[in-house]
Amino acid sequence: MPLPEFPDYTEVASISDIPAGQGRAYEVAGKAIAIFNCGGQFFAIDDQCPHMGASLADGCLEGCVVSCPWHAWRFDVRDGTWVDNPRIKTDAYPLQVVAGKIWIGPKPITPNS
Ligand code: FES
Repeated sequence: MPLPEFPDYTEVASISDIPAGQGRAYEVAGKAIAIFNCGGQFFAIDDQCPHMGASLADGCLEGCVVSCPWHAWRFDVRDGTWVDNPRIKTDAYPLQVVAGKIWIGPKPITPNS
């Protein structure tokens, strides 16, 4: 059943599926989205690293910054900012937690266009 306030959001996971300090990748409308548990707060960004496509969900999360597992580019999971060059961002997605379930919005907050 859709969220009444956010009818175009998709239910993706339970908060218990993503331990604190970790990320998990999910397919949402044909796109891989990485969801991170950043100290009990959840954030969603494009899972595909803009460098060469590694899964950012497999990266190391320190605070709210994930390091790509391949070449260690670092992204702030709260808004997708590339930490080493903040003028560049990867897509971040709107996220709601309702009754222990994580819902993702269909469109990025910060489109790269
Ligand atoms: S693929 Fe992510 S930094 Fe190279």
